[in-house]
Amino acid sequence: MVQFDTMISSEEIAAKVKETGAKISRDYEGESVIVIGVLTGAFIFTADLVREITVPVETVDFVSISSYEGDTSTGNFTFKKDISCDIKGKNVLIVEDIVDTGRTLKKLKEILMMRDPKSIKICTAFDKPSRRVNDLVPDYNCITVPDEFIVGYGLDYDGNYRQFKDIRIVRK
Ligand code: IMP
Ligand code: MG
Repeated sequence: MVQFDTMISSEEIAAKVKETGAKISRDYEGESVIVIGVLTGAFIFTADLVREITVPVETVDFVSISSYEGDTSTGNFTFKKDISCDIKGKNVLIVEDIVDTGRTLKKLKEILMMRDPKSIKICTAFDKPSRRVNDLVPDYNCITVPDEFIVGYGLDYDGNYRQFKDIRIVRK
């Protein structure tokens, strides 16, 4: 049977999301932003974060990426779903559930950069910096977590447990 230890309460998450939204709103003052959530994990965080952003959010869109495990040197990467909007000349904020090795976001940022946006920044709900294999640093991070496999608040284990309001460690 799968057991869980609660790591971060829903109240703490909400407080950090609010803080991060306020910081983003200050940093983009006088500008507008296109928010791109990374499916599926970021669907809850994206919904919460945009409601804490006070500058105009022009578009909320989503990408879905598949990266094949095993190909550790390149992190083979394709879009399962690309965005539907044009980001040329726009401020783009990529919203992710958790940054682990950093491979996904490094690659996604590189690909979106080629479309000539005005700026690209990354905002993650959770960051596991001890696992990083490259130099990727998110511009905004709500909560730094240790090297544990966590679920809830959109994060899954084999598709499960995304609906938990808090963050829990999976104990097998
Ligand atoms: P990476 O940064 O390219 O290694 O990939 C990060 C992705 O791996 C995230 O978007 C999550 O989907 C998944 N992931 C990494 N760590 C966890 C975790 O602790 N729980 C659930 N998913 C995770
Ligand atoms: Mg993800």
